[in-house]
Amino acid sequence: MRLSFTIQRFNPETDHHPHQEDYRLDIGRGMTVLEALIRIKNELDGSLSLRYSCRSAICGSCAMHINGTEKLACRTSIRKEFERHGRISIDPLPNLPIIKDLVVDMSPFWDKIRAVTPWLTSITHPTRRYGSFGQLQLLPETYQFHNVDACIMCGACVAACTSHEVSPDFLGPAALAKAERFVADPREPAAAKQARLTALQEAHGIWDCTRCNMCVQVCPKDVQPMEAIIRLRRSALQHGLTSTEGARHITGFVDLVRHEGRLNEALMPLKVIGVDIRRLLSVMPLGIRMWLKGKVPSPFGHTVPGIEQIRAIFSAARRLARRV
Ligand code: SF4
Ligand code: SF4
Ligand code: FES
Repeated sequence: MRLSFTIQRFNPETDHHPHQEDYRLDIGRGMTVLEALIRIKNELDGSLSLRYSCRSAICGSCAMHINGTEKLACRTSIRKEFERHGRISIDPLPNLPIIKDLVVDMSPFWDKIRAVTPWLTSITHPTRRYGSFGQLQLLPETYQFHNVDACIMCGACVAACTSHEVSPDFLGPAALAKAERFVADPREPAAAKQARLTALQEAHGIWDCTRCNMCVQVCPKDVQPMEAIIRLRRSALQHGLTSTEGARHITGFVDLVRHEGRLNEALMPLKVIGVDIRRLLSVMPLGIRMWLKGKVPSPFGHTVPGIEQIRAIFSAARRLARRV
């Protein structure tokens, strides 16, 4: 079968903007997008630049934007892509600077991984302290790394992240998933965990995630970064880090539901922003628009009938949490 491939090209030495180029290629059975790209480079256009190494979904270097989604080219079947989309369109990963064609600059990605201190701070000289076996420790049965250690650093989640798109300083899903692995590690001392969480709750950290789930959808290794971020948020609250607006949004939300049985949008700004008059005035126009559309309930007398049952659920949940 002969298929057409549309590939984004960009050479910073000659082009002002990226542009699309079409290539036609005979496709064999079971061929992957990476195999097609290598053949295009070898047989049709040697100037095409792409990055790859293992060809086995291990090294993470061939992540690209294929038919609108971040994927590993080496494990993306051309036949399936064509059946689903009726075309094959390949672009570099979004949200990262392009070096040339399909090759992006991963430095911002690595800078963020480094920023979360991706190692156990308790072990500065493992061989000196623990001999040639490093630090051996039996982990409690209840302890889980979840799947964050499966990350191959492909950058697909960062490229797909909606928060990263508008706020490039956001630490991003891969780095935060990596951070969670060390916050959850029983070998990390309590003071170090507190310090990690204190840093992670700052601007551009855990509270910047919009929970859009894109990182979970595109991750080729089922790392589920958003779930790791949720675990970090839970840890931050459990460690008493409740002063950020993100944390106050959660505690305020829970508070309102416990007291009134449902969310009261009229009181949420006070719960989240507090008595910062300037900030409150800045959200006032939105509040007025919501009120005109009937979206803001009365701040008074909002309690639902049967509120005692809802409070009983909260009490039972608290008792259960204490037992766990
Ligand atoms: S869930 Fe959060 S971290 Fe994941 S892609 Fe969406 S905004 Fe980014
Ligand atoms: S979390 Fe998944 S998508 Fe993100 S870098 Fe790691 S393997 Fe790639
Ligand atoms: S070439 Fe290594 S993951 Fe695709």
